[in-house]
Amino acid sequence: MKKLSRRDFFKKGLITGAGIAILSKFNFLQGKEIDRKKGGPVVIASRNGLKATQKAMELLKKGVDPLDAVIAGVNLVENDPNDLGVGYGGLPNEEGIVELDASVMHGPTHNAGGVASLRNIKNPSKVAKLVMERTDHVLLVGEGALRFAKAHGFKEENLLTDRAREIWLRWKETLSDRDDWFPPKEVEKELEEVFHHGTINCLAIDSKGNIAGVTTTSGLPFKIPGRVGDSPIIGAGLYVDNDVGAAGSTGRGEANLLNCGSFTVVEFMRKGYSPEEACLKTLERIAYTTKKQPYLLDRKGRPKFSLTFYALNKKGEFGAASMWSGAKFAVHDGTKNRLIECAYLFKREK
Ligand code: GLY
Repeated sequence: MKKLSRRDFFKKGLITGAGIAILSKFNFLQGKEIDRKKGGPVVIASRNGLKATQKAMELLKKGVDPLDAVIAGVNLVENDPNDLGVGYGGLPNEEGIVELDASVMHGPTHNAGGVASLRNIKNPSKVAKLVMERTDHVLLVGEGALRFAKAHGFKEENLLTDRAREIWLRWKETLSDRDDWFPPKEVEKELEEVFHHGTINCLAIDSKGNIAGVTTTSGLPFKIPGRVGDSPIIGAGLYVDNDVGAAGSTGRGEANLLNCGSFTVVEFMRKGYSPEEACLKTLERIAYTTKKQPYLLDRKGRPKFSLTFYALNKKGEFGAASMWSGAKFAVHDGTKNRLIECAYLFKREK
């Protein structure tokens, strides 16, 4: 049986995801489905967030603070054992241990909190909110984050489900042909698919125009222990400016970290770009800076990885854009909860 290294899997996943594509200058979709009632609340999320947008909208309509609303929304996904990229049931690090990252940001107070490499606690988004509210810090990591969570009464539990453990075991068994682990047959497809899972971002504006957001993830599958992605980093995986709007991300965290993506999206909106344009312009910048990392480029010089930004502005307009075509995002505009296609920088061809 052919053995694949971790890097082979990564590359294979990226190449499969990217396919052969045609460069297209900004593929706009904005305006097609924006039917927000003036002044009403809006919630958006990544593709895995339909139940989060539903829950958050229900709470916003009852007058709940937008940060509490989006956290309650993503808690449903953190608690879902079937989501392999978030909370309980998320894929573990290379040692088989689940490590979670999350951040929250609250527009009205311009305050934020985050946790990174947090083990054994199912709802890192709730801990991130406590970091924001009950400390003078913004980010706690690892053992310190766990102790902080326990001090606030969070109970430790095993986050590794049998399904996630079995996927991790398949990965480990196929890592090298120079070790003593033997994989079963027919594993490559399953392993390719796991690289497409991961992370939820959820953003909301309430009827008063207050904005908040949350991003939560189990991070890159089989990462080096201690690896922190973009999700818990304010300015990368999440950013909110109550005067302007909010942005968040899913996808390759390292590319986002190197470009402060969510902050950049909000700054583009400040200059007058629509949420969708701001996401696309940020992706364009990331595609440009990635040219200095040739191993991440396809033969035509385009980034092989997936990365998606989600944004909404002070008027309640929203948009999302992805490096490659085919992505979707969740929107609840107060009347309808549904998935909408993201704009994209590069068109994927089958
Ligand atoms: N965007 C999630 C991560 O890279 O960890």
